[in-house]
Amino acid sequence: MQFDRNLKIAPSILSADFANFGAEIEAVEREGADWIHVDVMDGHFVPNLTFGPPLVKAIRKHIKTVMDVHLMIAPVDPYIDAFADAGADILTAHVEAGPHLHRTLQAIRGADMTAGVALNPGTPASAVAEVLDLVGLVCVMTVNPGFGGQSFIDMTAKVRDLRAMIGDRPVHIEIDGGVTPKTAPLVRAAGADVLVAGSAVFSGGSVADPAPYGANIRAIRTACDTLV
Ligand code: DX5
Ligand code: ZN
Repeated sequence: MQFDRNLKIAPSILSADFANFGAEIEAVEREGADWIHVDVMDGHFVPNLTFGPPLVKAIRKHIKTVMDVHLMIAPVDPYIDAFADAGADILTAHVEAGPHLHRTLQAIRGADMTAGVALNPGTPASAVAEVLDLVGLVCVMTVNPGFGGQSFIDMTAKVRDLRAMIGDRPVHIEIDGGVTPKTAPLVRAAGADVLVAGSAVFSGGSVADPAPYGANIRAIRTACDTLV
């Protein structure tokens, strides 16, 4: 994967039609998605359940861009090989998911994926200070994870701190939760380059009528271009 800090929009399939993931992914990529964000939830680390490695593997062949897998599960380590086999490009684990973050990130790298680390809103930027040389992405949660469609929690100061901590390292800052044309410019200006958006991308469209997906993606991009 080439590294750059250009703005990337990563639609979350949590807001897509669960009975039609393949076609939804193809539609949203045609409409301008840069990455596809895949939310894995276990009903234990977060109070919701989605899907596991077999489904992630099944949708892989529909993704031409980057498969960005966000694990909201604990423990993580027993499932790393299964997600590597499923074809994840980026595998992100939460800081809060266990006591051995460094070991988890090493194992993800050892399985030939880019390691990501996610921070809940209540977790400070300093929690990732010792692992910045292991990761390719830091995900700043701007909602408490578990559900799509929640309101944005302002983490702009945390994003700014992380941007300074990261310096010249090739590490993306991703924002996840409540991203809209209104909130996106705040985090983009603070240093984020990957914006996950579920409801703000998928609302108003469908596989049969995908044009709204493109309009929604462009609205986020334009809002960032005009403010940054
Ligand atoms: C939340 C998930 C997000 C979610 C974002 O737990 O990690 O990726 O799908 O959805 P929106 O953009 O609707 O807040
Ligand atoms: Zn997510």
